[in-house]
Amino acid sequence: MTTIAPLTPEHFETVARWLSNPEINRWLSGDWRDRETTASTIAIAARNRKNRFYLVSHDATPCGLVALSEIDSADKTAMAWYLLGRLEFGRKGVTSAAVSELVKRAFKELELNSVYAWAMESNTASLQLLAKVGFKRAGRIRRSSCCDGRALDRIYFDIIPEDAAL
Ligand SMILES: CC(C)(COP(=O)(O)OP(=O)(O)OC[C@H]1O[C@@H](n2cnc3c(N)ncnc32)[C@H](O)[C@@H]1OP(=O)(O)O)[C@@H](O)C(=O)NCCC(=O)NCCS
Repeated sequence: MTTIAPLTPEHFETVARWLSNPEINRWLSGDWRDRETTASTIAIAARNRKNRFYLVSHDATPCGLVALSEIDSADKTAMAWYLLGRLEFGRKGVTSAAVSELVKRAFKELELNSVYAWAMESNTASLQLLAKVGFKRAGRIRRSSCCDGRALDRIYFDIIPEDAAL
């Protein structure tokens, strides 16, 4: 069973290690990409009211992170992002279940009207994950991301409470 819970300091080190993995952070926004992340960086980011971080556990084993960033309480929107830290849990539906729960919390607890996400055009796993969770494609911003020295398009998605499975 996959669960999410607000990220607490005891797990900052573990999450920092996952975020420092180039195979993971190469797909993330420029704030995290191609750099070492420390527990102190996580502590600072977690204190920012525009962020909500949740630890993902599968059968009680911590294995990933799902997050809301750019939380805008005036316009009631935020950006979702996520990672699977323990690759041996991959392709078991763990992150899609966690993102689904994240979106439910965004609508019920934070009372947001809309959540968006983006993935680089070459991040097939993330593009498929977002569609599986019920996000709809919202458009493409050309050459708005960099991966391995190449300019790549960002594919944007959004989801609202009326969308499937919420
Ligand atoms: C993308 C990522 C979060 C997927 O995590 P996961 O727990 O393996 O995802 P799920 O098992 O829930 O998979 C959901 C869907 O994504 C797709 N998918 C996941 N891993 C895939 C892979 N390696 N290759 C192709 N498709 C994949 C599949 O369509 C899958 O559904 P299916 O198994 O029913 O076919 C993980 O690979 C990761 O952390 N990647 C690096 C960070 C990242 O890209 N974050 C997103 C930034 S936008």
